[in-house]
Amino acid sequence: MDAFVVRGGRRLRGRVKINGSKNAALPLMAAALLTDEPITLENVPNLRDIASMANLLETLGCQAHRGDPAAGGDPHRMTLQATDASPCLAHYDIVRTMRASICVLGPLLTKRGRARVSMPGGCNIGDRPVDLHLRGLQALGAQISLDEGYIVAEARRLKGAKVFLGGTFGSTVLGTANLMSAAVLAEGTTVIESAACEPEVVDLARLLCAMGARIRGAGSPRITIEGVDRLHGAHHQVIPDRIEAGTFIMAAAITNGDVVIENCPTDALTAALDRLTEVGVELEPVDGSPDAGAAAGEVDPICQTVRVASTRRLQPVQVVTQPHPGFPTDLQAQIMALLCLADGNSMITEKIFPDRFLHVAELLRMGARLIRNGPTVLVTGVHHLVGAPVMASDLRASAGLVLAGLAARGTTTVNRVYHLDRGYEMMEVALRNLGADIERINVSA
Ligand code: EPZ
Repeated sequence: MDAFVVRGGRRLRGRVKINGSKNAALPLMAAALLTDEPITLENVPNLRDIASMANLLETLGCQAHRGDPAAGGDPHRMTLQATDASPCLAHYDIVRTMRASICVLGPLLTKRGRARVSMPGGCNIGDRPVDLHLRGLQALGAQISLDEGYIVAEARRLKGAKVFLGGTFGSTVLGTANLMSAAVLAEGTTVIESAACEPEVVDLARLLCAMGARIRGAGSPRITIEGVDRLHGAHHQVIPDRIEAGTFIMAAAITNGDVVIENCPTDALTAALDRLTEVGVELEPVDGSPDAGAAAGEVDPICQTVRVASTRRLQPVQVVTQPHPGFPTDLQAQIMALLCLADGNSMITEKIFPDRFLHVAELLRMGARLIRNGPTVLVTGVHHLVGAPVMASDLRASAGLVLAGLAARGTTTVNRVYHLDRGYEMMEVALRNLGADIERINVSA
């Protein structure tokens, strides 16, 4: 199993370019099940979760090909084509490796009339039910039952309806993606109320519209979808990864670095940038204009080349994670690492996944001063963190620990970077290019 060895204390300097968004790409790939024509996606990150989704789609009769650099192809371009519409089984062996496999449920049901998808179950960040996905599909007329750990869904043709997707912890991102993907081929009009407003939902709507779907309101809490009889192939550019961008901004800030970030979706990071400004970290546009493509309206959200500038003293702040456009839960661990070094007491409250605190015990091992009370953590800034062997079985928690290691005195070994590889494309290479002292090693299990 691989680990990162980080020798802290280097200021990061240089340029980094943000990759395509994992969480946008996964439902975009599943949307290829909605047509038998090819879907070409550009800017697809090279990650373990993407490979798992490609693998799942192959078992569902949908071929997925990445460009081969040896043959002059672009490894970030993926072409998907459903050539066999008979398979409907998303097997437990694949679903248990990646919860986002649930994204195939809506497309399979609406296009093939039936789906048998393993129930994803909980994971390291909480229980993660899928009741809202199922209730939404039932509202469109699907017959749903559970059989030996599988969701069995059937419908001759789904019928448009009004669907409320709000839950105890806000709306659901993948639930909105599933419902929207199902409703595009339903008979009549579907209105999703309390829809997730995340940029990844907007990106999916853009692809579906390019395939011939009729969708209004994506990015707002009410999405209206008029069903069509068929969809066709399309070419689509995946949006840049706002969470990867936020992680690199905080990596620059925690090392008091000077980093230029290309392809940074600033528009999608408003809440995070607001908190960071309070902390004393600011982004300055480098050329004052949106990146090529964004200016032409080809990518949404607006991207910029920005420079991270920070004052030496970090101010404490309050952070509450919320659905978009609020502060993203996927950046909570990273900002906690940063606030460990702020000048005073900060409070972090997790409102999306109240148990998403695997990094807390590990940061304590590095000398952080943290007190957790339910979904809230009191972070008392310390003068410095100290390196230690650490491990967290969650992708973003692991990212937080890498950031802590970059700033800590001494050596931090982040074990099981297997989790990081699910969501960051060669993170250690990008950080090394910025001057970090970080290497990947193989440790026997
Ligand atoms: C997506 O998960 C992301 N995953 C997560 O990123 C992200 O943390 C999360 O949205 C919140 O922003 C992908 O896009 C692949 P939700 P998703 O359904 O859609 C509750 C990462 O690190 N809920 O929006 O599965 C749920 O328990 C990952 O990249 C229900 O109660 O999350 C949570 O409290 C981790 N019933 C809240 O809603 C449901 O049916 C939001 O979850 C569904 C969700």
